[in-house]
Amino acid sequence: MTSEIQIAPSILAADFGCLREEAVKAEKSGADLLHIDVMDGHFVPNITFGPQVVSMLKQSVSIPLDVHLMISHPDQYLEAFINSGASYLTVHAEANHDMPSTLRMIRSKKVKAGPALNPDRNIEEILPVLPESDIVLVMSVFPGFGGQTFIPNVLEKIKKLVLIRKEKGYHYQIEIDGGITMDNFPLVRDAGVDIVVAGTTLYRAENMNKLIQQMKNQ
Ligand code: DX5
Ligand code: ZN
Repeated sequence: MTSEIQIAPSILAADFGCLREEAVKAEKSGADLLHIDVMDGHFVPNITFGPQVVSMLKQSVSIPLDVHLMISHPDQYLEAFINSGASYLTVHAEANHDMPSTLRMIRSKKVKAGPALNPDRNIEEILPVLPESDIVLVMSVFPGFGGQTFIPNVLEKIKKLVLIRKEKGYHYQIEIDGGITMDNFPLVRDAGVDIVVAGTTLYRAENMNKLIQQMKNQ
């Protein structure tokens, strides 16, 4: 898999008054991806961005857009998010849809796809879709809000996913999302993740570039 860890700042923690500049700031600071949390106020108790905002961000930066769908009926909006320029779409197992056909539909449009797993869900639930997943998003907080506290026992899931990938010859990337700080980053890295999402830690930093470089070189 990718040898260097990839960093995905979460635009949820940015200043919404200047989203374009905040996205550009992430890119200029060395981000590999931009993480965009789509929330519908139903699947999670918070409302954020729709496809129009994703399109605007697509026009603003050239790094890939990693779109995390926290919505109840993902099927109804897949096409809109694909057309908006998402490079990755991750979809929760708890949402109202058929995961295998959702992933198939997304991948047929040449967009990377994979399941998102809440902290209380087991890997067993997503085993059937792992062969056709480009990415697995392991949540280390319950979705809905930025700035929550990291739940350390999800690291076991990361280690299992690394093992399964090796044993079965699968190719998914492993992404962790929620509560990442400079203190828990080494634990996450050592567990074997490929992509780390960080919102509050990076957008509240005085120097985002410095932290991203520290994460990459630690
Ligand atoms: C939580 C979101 C996360 C969040 C991460 O529902 O999916 O992506 O933006 O933010 P921090 O890093 O502040 O926990
Ligand atoms: Zn997210």
